[in-house]
Amino acid sequence: MAINNLKELYLAELKDLYDANEQANATIEKLIPAASDSGLKDALKQSITGTKKGNEHLKSILDSHGEGVGNVTCKGMKGLTKEAEEHVLKEEYGDDSVRDAMLISQYQRMAHYAITGYGSVEAFAKRLDLLEDAKKLETCKEETMEGDLKFTKLAQDGINKAAKAA
Ligand SMILES: [Fe+2]
Repeated sequence: MAINNLKELYLAELKDLYDANEQANATIEKLIPAASDSGLKDALKQSITGTKKGNEHLKSILDSHGEGVGNVTCKGMKGLTKEAEEHVLKEEYGDDSVRDAMLISQYQRMAHYAITGYGSVEAFAKRLDLLEDAKKLETCKEETMEGDLKFTKLAQDGINKAAKAA
């Protein structure tokens, strides 16, 4: 389907991001049992809740434009989730903290995809004078960024140090 203007691009990107979030959450559910650090497990669970909240906002924004969430598959997130599952669940690890470090690395790839997605739709909403939408999307972006920072701290303050270095 042709995208003829920024409004149509905006709606298409909202749907793509909604699907990306759904895919990410399904994969994170699968990764939680593989985490050995309890703080990491908790952070992953919190991220699922945060992403669900984000998708409620995306759904309500789409509703307000008379659109459903659609039936799109985000190919970018499809690749990221496949990579995450392969690296975390299929590779063998001689050290649990090294697996946790891999899990964080894969998680952050998915989180950053969502952050950039929120950033784009927020910018489109502003250009379209959809200021309420923009505000909601900015909140989603900031909450995802804050969540992501927790993973950076978990890695740098504990898990990377606990991991067998060489
Ligand atoms: Fe996508």
